[in-house]
Amino acid sequence: MLNVFLRKMKSFLLYGTPFGEVYTKICDLMHHLKYGFKERNLKNDKAHLKYYLTKHYHIVEKGLALPEPRLGFGQPKILNVISKASQYESLYGADGLIVSIRKTFSDYLKFNEENSFDLPSSFELAVTEFISEGSHDGNGGLKHIQKEFSSTLDLQEFRDFAQGRVSVRDFSSETISAETIRDIVDIAKSAPSVCNRQGWKAHCYSDKLKIKELLSYQNGNAGFTDVIDKLLIVTADAKAFTNYESNQIFIDGGLFSMNILLAIHAAGLGACPLNTCYPYFIEKKVKLASEIPDNERLIMMIGIGSLKENYTAAYSPRNPTDEIYVAH
Ligand SMILES: Cc1cc2nc3c(=O)[nH]c(=O)nc-3n(C[C@H](O)[C@H](O)[C@H](O)COP(=O)(O)O)c2cc1C
Repeated sequence: MLNVFLRKMKSFLLYGTPFGEVYTKICDLMHHLKYGFKERNLKNDKAHLKYYLTKHYHIVEKGLALPEPRLGFGQPKILNVISKASQYESLYGADGLIVSIRKTFSDYLKFNEENSFDLPSSFELAVTEFISEGSHDGNGGLKHIQKEFSSTLDLQEFRDFAQGRVSVRDFSSETISAETIRDIVDIAKSAPSVCNRQGWKAHCYSDKLKIKELLSYQNGNAGFTDVIDKLLIVTADAKAFTNYESNQIFIDGGLFSMNILLAIHAAGLGACPLNTCYPYFIEKKVKLASEIPDNERLIMMIGIGSLKENYTAAYSPRNPTDEIYVAH
C-alpha cells in the first residue's frame, strides 16, 4: 500500500510538476556529460575514438571540397588524425573508417601534387607511410558530381512526393518484411549529420506483444496500437557528440527520422511518428524494455504499417508560407 503510494507520489513529482521538468533537464545534462566525448581528454573507448576520428578526418574532407582549398592546409590536424587512427587500427583493425581516412589523405596528397605544392618532406612522408600501410580503396575524400545527374526529381515532383506523405494511423493487416525496413534504414542513413558523425540508430520491433509493451509507455498511440506492424525506435548515441554538442543529438536524430519517414513513404508504406517526450525515468524504462543501451537517447518511435486501398488521415493543415518564410 505504502509502496504504491510512494510510486504514485514519485510519478506525480517527476511527471506533473515543474520539479519534474527541472529533474529531466538535469538528467539530460548528466547523461550528456557521462557519455559525450571530451576532445582534449579522449577516453580509450572505441565509440569515442571512432566519432572523434570521423569528426576530424571529415574536416580535411570538407576542406578539400571548398571552391579554392588552401594549399597544404591542416597539417597538424592530419598528423593528429594519423596518430589517433593508428591507435584505433592497432586496437580494432582497419575497418571502413580507417579506409575512408586513408582515401581522404590520399586525395589530400593528390590535390597538393596536382597544384605543384611542396609539402614539408617529413609531413609528406608521415602521410604517405600511413596511406601505404593499408587499403585506401574505399569511400572518402572527394566525389565528383555532374550537375545534370545531381538530382533525379524536379521541384514539382519533390513537392508532390513530400506533400503526399502524411501520418497514417489506419493500416491494413498486411505484414512488412524486416528486409524492407532494413532497406528503408539503409536509404535514410544518407541524412546529413554534424561533421558526418552519424550517431543515429534505428531499432526495429516486429513482435506484437513487444510492440504493445513498448507503446504502453507512449502517450499518442491509443486507438491504433494493434494495427502497427513494425515499430521503429529511433535513437542517437550520446557518445557521438562532444561536450559542446548536447543539442546536436536531437537535431541529427530528427533529420535521420525525417529521412526514414520519407523512405517509408517512397516504399508505398504508411507511418506515424510517435513522440518520446517522456520524463527521464520513463525513457530509462523504455530503454530497459527495448534493450537499448543507456548511452543512446530516444529521438522518436515510428509506427509502420501497410496501406489500405483507401484510408483517411488527419488533414494537419500547414501555416501560410508568409508566416514562415522571412526574407531579410
Ligand atoms: C516527433 C513527432 C512526434 C509525434 N508524435 C505523435 C504521437 O505521439 N501520436 C500521433 O498520433 N501523432 C504524432 N505525431 C504526428 C503529428 O501529429 C503529425 O506529424 C502532424 O500533425 C503533421 O501531420 P502529417 O504528419 O500528416 O503531415 C508526431 C510527429 C512528430 C514529428
